[in-house]
Amino acid sequence: MKFKSLINNKIQEAFSKIDIAPELITVSDASKPEFGDFQYNGVMAVAKKIGANPRDIASLLAKNIDSDMLSKVEVAGPGFVNIHIDNNWLESQLTSIFKSTNFMIEKNQNPKTILVDYSGPNMAKEMHVGHLRSTIIGDSLANLFEFLGENVIRQNHIGDWGTQFGMLIAYLEEIQQNSNFDELKNLENFYKLAKKRFDEDVNFANKAREYVVKIQSGDKHCLELWQKFIDISLSHCEEVYDKLGINLTKDDVRAESFYNDLLPIIISKLDNSGLLKVSDGAKCIFLPNSEVPVIVQKSDGGYLYATTDLAAINYRNDVLKVDRICYVVDARQSEHFAGVFWTAKESKLCNHDVLLEHIAFGTMMDKSGKPFKTRDGGTVKLIDLLDEAIIRAKDTINDRANFADEEIERLAKTIGIGAVKYSDLSINRESNYIFDWDKMLSFDGNTSLYMQYAYARIQSILNKFNGEISGDVELQSDIEHKLAIMLLSFEDVLNRAANDATPHTITSYLYDLATIFMRFYEQSPILKEDIPANVKMSRLMLSSITARTIKKGLEILGIEVVDRL
Ligand code: ARG
Repeated sequence: MKFKSLINNKIQEAFSKIDIAPELITVSDASKPEFGDFQYNGVMAVAKKIGANPRDIASLLAKNIDSDMLSKVEVAGPGFVNIHIDNNWLESQLTSIFKSTNFMIEKNQNPKTILVDYSGPNMAKEMHVGHLRSTIIGDSLANLFEFLGENVIRQNHIGDWGTQFGMLIAYLEEIQQNSNFDELKNLENFYKLAKKRFDEDVNFANKAREYVVKIQSGDKHCLELWQKFIDISLSHCEEVYDKLGINLTKDDVRAESFYNDLLPIIISKLDNSGLLKVSDGAKCIFLPNSEVPVIVQKSDGGYLYATTDLAAINYRNDVLKVDRICYVVDARQSEHFAGVFWTAKESKLCNHDVLLEHIAFGTMMDKSGKPFKTRDGGTVKLIDLLDEAIIRAKDTINDRANFADEEIERLAKTIGIGAVKYSDLSINRESNYIFDWDKMLSFDGNTSLYMQYAYARIQSILNKFNGEISGDVELQSDIEHKLAIMLLSFEDVLNRAANDATPHTITSYLYDLATIFMRFYEQSPILKEDIPANVKMSRLMLSSITARTIKKGLEILGIEVVDRL
């Protein structure tokens, strides 16, 4: 149900009835109950433009809004229009939603092809916390677009190319001879050991350099070593995806190396477009609003990160025929993307109407506000971080009800992983993110545990009733009216989250929904004996829709619910 756009349409209609062309119309959720359910505040601007009294226009407008979905439209203050939604209308909508399997959310009839570029770890090193954020945020956005019926292409743009691979495969070859594969369990360490060899032994360093050239020229032996290294490195990432419940598979990997053959073509396309300038021997594109050019080819002929990204955009445009690309990447790369996007459009490597967006996110910090590192300043291994989340979740639930051991294991995994994801998704992604175990595993506040608890609580009410729920929703009180409006807003919220690529829009909504539900539950007994059957059914229906909405919302975010907590 596109609830707010329905109301907006009504206002639009009323404006046209009184022969005024309105500005862009949006109603906002009224913050105070006496303002009604929604408030339209665009009258003042319109009145000013045509030199009329805002209150006059507002009351004219109010008189002309007629709809069976509204119970009352009133003018307030200097020219606000307060809108009250009719209970009968709400009841029939909710009764239909109760019966529907899909919240009456229709899949987009003209789906767009949206590519989500996320995770993108570098194969030379261990996946780090920046990739964790990208993976969690990107996956939730891809799920969201999919739910709304878009064509979604997930892409894992892994970094598998570059000079450091010469050193790494030369070292791999060496340890292979001593069959000392254990060193590859920890890539960070492997990298350090290889670097040490490189710095200390001239022969090794020469070999490493030679291997760079050899992989680039397609030498079979070197490519085999390289492939082996990539496979091992990628399997580390897959372990993380698996534990996190991320919908990325091998098929979604289109690595940097995939674009190698296209790079010279991209350079000539850029050249043909007249954008290419040579500066200090390097091929560059100068941007209108920046001192820093995009360098696409170094003086020694080597290509750069930006060249690959331009090739990827061109491929995504020409072959994958995308309408929108969301790059879920650390905010520190914003200059890179601004340059690449401008160049891609200007050189027509990408059509003008394709939406290119850098879905930037802030740095992950520890509790003391420093970038997240191990105690000795190293990179935190993600798999260890996730294991710790599960152990801590176990401690959190251990002191609660009597769970069987295996149930605790299962719950701990769902809760621990859910907490890591939810706490990341629930903040505005652009701000830096303080990683705080205690806050994340708390039952209070906007946390995954609060949401999972609310869900489990509703489930237990429904289970206690243990019968068939049927009938019509009948709203009894103000809080039920509010809960109904909240439930009907789900589709608006999902659309807003999809437009702005902001998963926290969904978490805030879920938190508000759960909070309103708790208030409803305190005020409205459901299973008490003296509750009339029709009221009981209606409240059960509201509870059931709430539970389903929470479950679906969390599912889109990639978080599972539990039936008991
Ligand atoms: N591998 C890159 C990094 O770790 C992220 C890749 C993001 N995607 C892209 N198309 N550039 O910084």
